[in-house]
Amino acid sequence: MDTGESENQLKLEDIQGREEESTESCRKKRLEVNLREMQIDDLPEVFHLGELIFTAQEVPTLYRTWDEYEVTSLFNSDSEYCLVAELDKKIVGFALGTTVSKKKSSWKYGYLVWLGVLPAYHWQGIASRLFDKLAEKMIEDGVRMFLVDTGASDYAALQLFKKKGFRNPQKHVYLSLNLRTYQELQKKAGNSAKRPRNGNNHRNH
Ligand SMILES: CC(C)(COP(=O)(O)OP(=O)(O)OC[C@H]1O[C@@H](n2cnc3c(N)ncnc32)[C@H](O)[C@@H]1OP(=O)(O)O)[C@@H](O)C(=O)NCCC(=O)NCCS
Repeated sequence: MDTGESENQLKLEDIQGREEESTESCRKKRLEVNLREMQIDDLPEVFHLGELIFTAQEVPTLYRTWDEYEVTSLFNSDSEYCLVAELDKKIVGFALGTTVSKKKSSWKYGYLVWLGVLPAYHWQGIASRLFDKLAEKMIEDGVRMFLVDTGASDYAALQLFKKKGFRNPQKHVYLSLNLRTYQELQKKAGNSAKRPRNGNNHRNH
C-alpha cells in the first residue's frame, strides 16, 4: 500500500535533487565565467552595464558619476587594466583600473576606478576574480601600492576590499556649491564692501 510517508520522501528527494542541480549549475556558472581584457567592441556593453550597476546605487559625488567617457578614456589610456567577466558571451562584470606615477616617488600606484557585477551574478566570486586578475597585472607592471575608493555605505565593496587586504580607510568629505548661490554671495559681499565701514550708509539730507 502507498503511504503518505513514501510520497513525502519522494518530494524531499526531488527538492534535494533540484537543490543539488542548482548548486551544481551555480558551480558550473562560476567555472564558465571567462575573464579577459576588454576589447573595443565591448565598450557599449560595458557602458550600459555600468549604467545598470552604478545608477542603481546612490552616487555620492559627481566625480564618481558613471558616463561613457569613463569607459572610453580608461580604455584609451590603460586598456590592459580594463577587464571584463563574460558568461555565455554576455558581459556580467568588469574592472577598470589605471596607474599613477608620482613625480618625486619611485613608487607606482595602481588605482581600481570601477568594479561592478550585475546584481543577478553577485556572490559568485566574480568581483573577487576580476580583482585578483587586475592585481596580478599590476604586480607584473611594477605597481607597489593599490588604491580603491568607494562610498562609506557600500558594505559589499568594503567587505570585498577588506577581504583582499585593504586597510586604513580614510574618510573624505565632499562638498558641493551651487554656482548661482556663489554668485549671489559674491554680489552681497560686493554690496557690503561698498558700504561705509561704520555701517552708516543712510544719506544725509
Ligand atoms: C561590490 C561588488 C563588485 C561585489 O561583487 P560580487 O561578484 O558579488 O563579489 P564576490 O562574489 O566576488 O565577493 C567577494 C567577497 O566580497 C564580500 N562581499 C561581496 N558581496 C557582499 C555583500 N553583499 N555583503 C557582504 N560581503 C560581501 C565577501 O567577503 C565575498 O567573499 P565570500 O563570498 O568568500 O564571502 C558588487 O556588489 C557590485 O557590483 N556592487 C555595486 C558597485 C560597487 O559598489 N563597486 C565598488 C566600487 S567601484
